[in-house]
Amino acid sequence: MASIYQKLASLLGKRALGEPDAMEPYGRDESDLKFFPPEAVALVQSGEEIREVLHLADLDGIFVTPRGLGSGKTGGALPVKGGIVLSTERMRGIHQIDAENLLAVVEPGVVTGDLISRVEEEGLFYPPDPASLDVCSLGGNVAENAGGPRAFKYGVTREYVLGLELALMGGEGLSIGRRTVKGVTGMDLVALITGSEGTLAVISEITLKLLPRPQRVETFLAVFGDVLSAGRAVSQMIRDGHRPRTLELLDEQVVEHLAEQGKWPLPSGTAALLLVELDGEEGLEAQLLRAAQACEASGAREILVATDEARRRTLWEMRRQVSTMLGEMHRFRVAEDVAVPRAAISEMLSRLHGLAREFEVGIATYGHAGDGNLHVNVVYDEEIAAARVESLIEAIFRHALDLGGTLSGEHGIGVTKRRYMHLEQSPALLALQQKLKGAFDPRGLLNPGKLLP
Ligand code: LAC
Ligand code: ZN
Repeated sequence: MASIYQKLASLLGKRALGEPDAMEPYGRDESDLKFFPPEAVALVQSGEEIREVLHLADLDGIFVTPRGLGSGKTGGALPVKGGIVLSTERMRGIHQIDAENLLAVVEPGVVTGDLISRVEEEGLFYPPDPASLDVCSLGGNVAENAGGPRAFKYGVTREYVLGLELALMGGEGLSIGRRTVKGVTGMDLVALITGSEGTLAVISEITLKLLPRPQRVETFLAVFGDVLSAGRAVSQMIRDGHRPRTLELLDEQVVEHLAEQGKWPLPSGTAALLLVELDGEEGLEAQLLRAAQACEASGAREILVATDEARRRTLWEMRRQVSTMLGEMHRFRVAEDVAVPRAAISEMLSRLHGLAREFEVGIATYGHAGDGNLHVNVVYDEEIAAARVESLIEAIFRHALDLGGTLSGEHGIGVTKRRYMHLEQSPALLALQQKLKGAFDPRGLLNPGKLLP
């Protein structure tokens, strides 16, 4: 009988991979999980090829793991049960940028940052900006419903997905959604697919909503002596109706790591930071002044305005590399991604302090504080019993849920958080999602071992 690789090769020729060395990168991602070897990799180039691979896999009962660019944080693209990794990395076509109707039609492998730059050249704007925007793909962003700093003003990926071309297990193609901004015909399957982590269907084309590009952008860093004041500043600014496009927080532990890197413009005595960016047209100076004053009223010691584009880029480079930095500077790191209601930010931060003391480990926290979304990173260098780490992780989740929050603000559930789903969702809700999964993929062949417990 022909192997999985041989069958794929008959479809895709050299774009089927079967050699362990060539397949190695497809068994890893950015989740800090170990390596899971695929049995074969399909480098598809079109929607038709996606459908053919899904048809072939369905005939033979082979597992299929869809993959964008592998930058996911929860293992969503890992072939945990072997089978085929179906990579859309070569599908980088931008088919249409329609300035009149404010939309773009793209293939799933387009790098998010590439689309952002392309539409900006035409005076347009695609707001979702995951920290990984230079190395992640739009298909992955839709599958995970990715967020980013600008979600505070502009919302997450789901807000921008108008329509999708899908391929179902078995090989059927399906168009869902629309090209209009309004539209309520039928059930909202776009919302169901967005964030379903590749467990229901494979995305072969995406129609995205665009906005006009904001004329001007202003960025500043507010320097705090402690993280709780920074947290209070966030809540106060939201209460007072400030609408910056980002409200990013970096806590004492993160700032210590940045200082150790030694390449960022941080005044001495910096303990916590808010990275605030505003955009718009008229009146931006006044908004900037008001936002800076609000930070000072909550205890900011210093406001550093990025007076030119180079300084602005440096601040974002510093912010975007935080996750990578924390992973690289420690032998062990567990990256979590809870979200709490905005008003509970300070309370969550002080509970995290308590947990760091109780468990005697480092907890470095940063993220999209304006959305209540905190990337809580447990970091340590001496081995700790797995059970102890697990009870700390569970305690972090229980505190977030106790404050009315959720297990994941943007990284998804994937492999890493499945076993905690029951903490947040009832058995009836989980069973309903299993039934939905069964309607799309009755044999459970698509992205097995993810999302649902
Ligand atoms: C960030 C990624 C990890 O915000 O979500 O840095
Ligand atoms: Zn993030």
